Amino acid sequence: MIRRDGFCSSLWQAEIQPYMPVNIADSGITYDVIIVGGGITGITTGLLLQQRGKKCLLLEAANLGFGTTGGTTAHLNTLLDVPYTTISKNFGKEGAQQVAMCVQEAVEWIKSTCSRYAIECGLKDADAFLFAQQPEQEEELEEIRKATIEAGVTAEYTPHIPVPVAFTKALQVKGQAQFNPLPYIYGLAKAFEAAGGCIVQDCRVTASQVLETHVEVTTENGIFRGVDLVYATHIPPGVNLLHLRCVPYRSYAMAVTLEEEAYPENLAYDMYDPYHYYRTQEVNGQRYLIAGGEDHKTGEEPNTQQCFRKLEAHVRKYFKVKEVAYEWSSQYFEPADGLPYIGHLPGQADHVYVATGYGGNGMTYSTVAALLLTRMLLQEKPAGEVLFNPNRIKPVAGFTNFISHNADVVKQFIGKLFSGTTLEQLAELAPGEAKVVKYEDHKVALYKNDEGVIHAVSPSCTHLKCDVAWNTAEKSWDCPCHGARYDCDGNVLTGPADAPLEVINLA
Ligand code: FES
Repeated sequence: MIRRDGFCSSLWQAEIQPYMPVNIADSGITYDVIIVGGGITGITTGLLLQQRGKKCLLLEAANLGFGTTGGTTAHLNTLLDVPYTTISKNFGKEGAQQVAMCVQEAVEWIKSTCSRYAIECGLKDADAFLFAQQPEQEEELEEIRKATIEAGVTAEYTPHIPVPVAFTKALQVKGQAQFNPLPYIYGLAKAFEAAGGCIVQDCRVTASQVLETHVEVTTENGIFRGVDLVYATHIPPGVNLLHLRCVPYRSYAMAVTLEEEAYPENLAYDMYDPYHYYRTQEVNGQRYLIAGGEDHKTGEEPNTQQCFRKLEAHVRKYFKVKEVAYEWSSQYFEPADGLPYIGHLPGQADHVYVATGYGGNGMTYSTVAALLLTRMLLQEKPAGEVLFNPNRIKPVAGFTNFISHNADVVKQFIGKLFSGTTLEQLAELAPGEAKVVKYEDHKVALYKNDEGVIHAVSPSCTHLKCDVAWNTAEKSWDCPCHGARYDCDGNVLTGPADAPLEVINLA
């Protein structure tokens, strides 16, 4: 079992051992490219660059697949969550066509790479079925059909869908796929290392600096140098325009076994907001129905366990569930205008790159990002450079002000000793519960574990000082502003924060 950025175990993580790199990093040389983040974006970018002769170093704060790659439901789509109707409205017909070409290229690249390196990740071609269940959804579906075809992706109405859910109209889009994401990135990582790349795990980057001749990257394991730096961490660290243009969301997933062999053979999506999604994956000879949904903005759902129960009730309504084998949640970032941000990190010198804002299409857009970043780093001036430019300005009504920073000066706890008994009485916590309480003009975030031990930290996020909120399901402190997440002892699980929450000493 590998570690992931939460308490719940995903189907993928439970079935896999940690990746063991073979090549040793050299802090004495200057790499061509340093990549931060061991998910699909980072590893794919590394492999592509290494194949083209660039000497790459990949740094991962925990283990490969620790972040969203280990918690995805792994749908490979050219039918996108932000539909071509929206993309066309925001970026024009040509923009939508360009996006369609990019995502089709990405899905094809994944398929051909699995074949080239004989990666056994359960990759399977599939069709996507998007179905309407009421008249307004039918109208929306028709708009999506037209825009999808106009973008260059074939879509047609179908009388059948692969799930036993009542529907009124459904669209079928061919050429999609599904896989197990962790064997996939392990296969890419092996190919990356075989081509000469280096991977360092358990190596959190704490700072980076663009100097005259190179970029200096400071990590928990020392300093590394590179000509260029790529942040493949979903949201980049520091303070950046992208923190205003991406909103963190949590999505919930479960893998269940069924009483009968009625596993859907393809991918299916309803049209509610948030929508539900379904597919099947076989892992170690066992088939699982994977269902997901119940998405919400990070830090805004007081009872995240409830999201699992709602999802389970939904799944049981349509399927004869034998056992809920796994349930887990993961995080994604929604972009302001519907398209990811891929390219130069805003406000930074030319040598720092970023890829974020994939919405619910992380599997596909991560590969789009890797292909685009590689071409940019090779100075090939790819067409998508303008379309996905993170510096593009597309104000969307009501979006720019979503951020609600806690502007109060935060009182530091350094050296202060709090009475654990008083705090416990104040909070009245049952085992497994957490709460933020106010005590002597300080806010204190408390969690009582199942053994009754209290863990106390400052709720002030170390990124930009918003207050974190407890995530009951994943037992983490989640920041609603830009999605940083911490474990109950304040250790960083997810950026953009790169420093832990302050630990509060209890007497
Ligand atoms: Fe930015 Fe917490 S993630 S303030």
